[in-house]
Amino acid sequence: MVGGMRILSRSLRHHKPKASILTENSLTPRPNQWLYQTRRTLILESAPSQSVNLHRLSDSDSGIVEVSLERPQVRNAIGKDMLKGLQNTFDAISNDSSANVLLIRSKVPKVFCAGADLKERKMMSASEVRDFVNKLRAAFTVLEVLPIPTIAVIEGAALGGGLEMALSCDLRICGEDAVLGLPETGLAIIPGAGATQRLPRLVGKSIAKELILTGRKIGGREAMSMGLVNYCVHASEAYLKALEVARNINEKGPIAIRMAKRAIDQGLELDRASALALEEECYEQTLHTKDRLEALAAFAEKRKPRYIGE
Ligand code: COA
Repeated sequence: MVGGMRILSRSLRHHKPKASILTENSLTPRPNQWLYQTRRTLILESAPSQSVNLHRLSDSDSGIVEVSLERPQVRNAIGKDMLKGLQNTFDAISNDSSANVLLIRSKVPKVFCAGADLKERKMMSASEVRDFVNKLRAAFTVLEVLPIPTIAVIEGAALGGGLEMALSCDLRICGEDAVLGLPETGLAIIPGAGATQRLPRLVGKSIAKELILTGRKIGGREAMSMGLVNYCVHASEAYLKALEVARNINEKGPIAIRMAKRAIDQGLELDRASALALEEECYEQTLHTKDRLEALAAFAEKRKPRYIGE
């Protein structure tokens, strides 16, 4: 009981009072749920949309945050409601100093995300489509510039806007059955939520052009060979691999992780001298932290450091 209460009080400091504790494999609270203290207890946040949910892992995984996509009837296609859910969720994470690393995953088997909701799209006027695509592009930019590392966990199809969401993450990890592609030109449009810019920056101009101009779908292994994903693992094991990477990041100094991401992302947009000046500025942010002193003490005492993000 004491353990359970400790989890709750820690979560309440950062989260909304409606938080309830659920087990990883069941979204239904069990009787006497406070008595269950498994290593990977999840805390369900208020659902911003039925199709997008935010979970914060706890105990030793505290600091890892998961966004799950849950719109099975259309294979996680992004419609207006889901877009709102994504916007609210990314905003909530960007304001959360307790989050250290984010995973985006699907709870729908065999698909990460099927892109824009083409059934809803058919009912929209051109100006509604413009508004939707602009908002989707903006939401993915919020995702891209989150201060913490983000990892897309891709099992099954990541098509169109689904791949664009993954491209807005820092890392991508897929199962070998994954299918990635940008079919937009086949629909007489172009990828409009960032892929024309992010894909060539990731894999180079020539490969990006081939994928966008032909709409060709590729498998996980080919994506790996192009540098489009960081890891391609056995089918159904992408989440486990992503969790391993997330845990690895989560045990590092949280301020250092944020500063490293900032130095890389913002530095790449600058000339060399300004980028190195930015690196200096980011290093400076780590210099006066308690965590830096803790790292040196832990080294001297031959133990693991305990970082507090200060
Ligand atoms: N928008 C709206 N509905 C979609 C959708 C999308 N992007 N993708 C799939 N769906 C719907 C299907 O229309 C189908 O609905 P129905 O049961 O009413 O017919 C349902 O989801 C299941 O789709 P289905 O194709 O039978 O599932 P699958 O598991 O065999 O294949 C995909 C999944 C994602 C590979 C396939 O649905 C697909 O290629 N979708 C289109 C992706 C696309 O072109 N996206 C780019 C948008 S710019």
